[in-house]
Amino acid sequence: MLEIIEKHIRTIEQTTLPTAGAAEAFRIQYLGKKGIVQALFTDFKTVPGDEKRAVGQALNTLKTAVEAALANVVMKSPGRKKGPTEDFSRPGYATPPGAHHPISLVRNEIVSIFERMGFSVAQGPEMEDDWHNFSALNFPSEHPARDMQDTFFLAKDPDWALRTHTSSVQVRTMETQKPPIRIIAPGRVFRNEAISSRSHCVFHQVEGLYIDKNVSFADLKQTLLAFAQAFFGEKTEIRLRPSYFPFTEPSAEMDIWWGLENEADHRMTKGTGWLEIMGCGMVDPAVLTSCGIDPMIYSGYAFGMGIERIAMQRFQIPDIRAFYENDLRFLKTFSGAL
Ligand code: DAH
Repeated sequence: MLEIIEKHIRTIEQTTLPTAGAAEAFRIQYLGKKGIVQALFTDFKTVPGDEKRAVGQALNTLKTAVEAALANVVMKSPGRKKGPTEDFSRPGYATPPGAHHPISLVRNEIVSIFERMGFSVAQGPEMEDDWHNFSALNFPSEHPARDMQDTFFLAKDPDWALRTHTSSVQVRTMETQKPPIRIIAPGRVFRNEAISSRSHCVFHQVEGLYIDKNVSFADLKQTLLAFAQAFFGEKTEIRLRPSYFPFTEPSAEMDIWWGLENEADHRMTKGTGWLEIMGCGMVDPAVLTSCGIDPMIYSGYAFGMGIERIAMQRFQIPDIRAFYENDLRFLKTFSGAL
């Protein structure tokens, strides 16, 4: 009997249990009610007294060997009943790092510069009514910007359109917040324009608004200078040119000095050396009144810039359409450009 037991032990030592099914069959074969171990224990009763000790020990060794073989299988495939075991040593699949879209990169940088100056981010809907996009901003009813040429109206209701600028967020903010107000509003805007290398029907703007007591044009100028130097470099010079917007008075256009060193500079600045960056001005008292803010107590400034133009200049992108084509070869060039 001792020999039979030892033979079983040797067999077990050479047994491999590659699948959960094989392990279960093995368990039943040895440890089942009608299994080998049980049968041997029954036979054990007939073993002569002087052999009992050695045979008993061998039987225990056999039982332990069976249990060890089973424990080994359980450890190799935790929680799995079927199928091959996982190979944890196999190298993983490489996931190439993604890239931020150049528009997001520029937007994030602009927003973070103004956040550091105390502005907080505001948002508004892309579908706007006439009041928030035009009327409250002092656009006369016959103003050409309301024309079908420029605005995407929704369905057949001329009161609703895709916003043509982020200035609508100024109105929404002033209607719901009390001064002091200091917000920056990045967002997507829409204009019914022919698509070319320089203009698109969908683009992005960042709007700024500051309303408080005693806000002056000097505050506006200083804030824009600080922004220009943070974004374009410490030595950047700016100039403010008189301009016109219905919602600001006085209105201005801010340019930065770009230089006129080579042909590209001439092309980009139309031969002037100055690069137009944004529109700005003091919020028109009529706009404050429309939004429920008393212009006798408060004043403020506003500004708005196009992100695409700045991104084109920063990354030397000659065609605005590149931003919307989702060409991976183009987008991948911005990976790591945080
Ligand atoms: N909304 C103007 C546009 O889309 C840009 C602009 C100009 C915004 C002057 C302003 C501003 O806030 O003060 O062309």
